[in-house]
Amino acid sequence: MLLRIEQLDVLYGRNHAVKAMSLDLDAGEIVTVLGANGAGKSSLLKAIQGTVPLARGRVLFKGANISRWSAARRVGNGLVMVPEGRQIFIGMTVHENLLLGAYTRRDDTAAEIDAIYERFPNLAQRRDLPASVLSGGEQQMLAVARALVARPAVMMLDEPSLGLSPILVKQLFELIVDLNRSGLAILLVEQNTNMALAVAHRGYVLELGRTVMQGTPAELSSDEQLAAAYLGQA
Ligand SMILES: Nc1ncnc2c1ncn2[C@@H]1O[C@H](COP(=O)(O)OP(=O)(O)OP(=O)(O)O)[C@@H](O)[C@H]1O
Ligand SMILES: [Mg+2]
Repeated sequence: MLLRIEQLDVLYGRNHAVKAMSLDLDAGEIVTVLGANGAGKSSLLKAIQGTVPLARGRVLFKGANISRWSAARRVGNGLVMVPEGRQIFIGMTVHENLLLGAYTRRDDTAAEIDAIYERFPNLAQRRDLPASVLSGGEQQMLAVARALVARPAVMMLDEPSLGLSPILVKQLFELIVDLNRSGLAILLVEQNTNMALAVAHRGYVLELGRTVMQGTPAELSSDEQLAAAYLGQA
């Protein structure tokens, strides 16, 4: 198992945002975490990334207990997150944003960045322009591209399709599938349930911090309660 979450709790004061969450992500998988606003999806990813503390539970990555590692050490070892709302630096150039993705790497990242420009010609054309000139979709691609510079084994994406037009959503999901086929394991938080279940191998549904259901896309889609609550709203 590449990434294993065991009995994880996240607390913000009295607010119990994640309760006894367990989750597995195997090499080669896309696993999706679904749930309504406030269900605890972002808190879960932040706890895995190490930017909010675990109140209880463990995070295992490549067999090691990384629960006490800093976020930077996790990134350096290949556990990378694309946060909600992209969080690229719009005053910096596209190229400078990509270089930030290399902050945990001591070796030369030029080859990676060249490969990224080949994959994302829109970014290559704008490499010396401020990221503010990019469209919303291009900014999301830049956020993903920046995460790729860290050479991840696992990429966590927090609602990457939010605010994108249908065409860009389609392109983004094609990119997710493509990255997965080239060996990247992906933990995908989405409110676009239909798209997420179309690409995922397995999924978990969170409600008020708890897992209420897990299974294959077929199993999740055939559940009437889940369908009523989350499906068809894409
Ligand atoms: N920094 C914080 N301090 C206090 N409470 C927080 C904090 N961040 C999140 N929460 C609370 O924790 C709960 C889970 O929030 P979280 O952002 O993880 O949910 P989410 O599933 O990502 O929601 P959304 O779909 O809106 O992004 C909510 O009740 C939220 O108000
Ligand atoms: Mg969130």
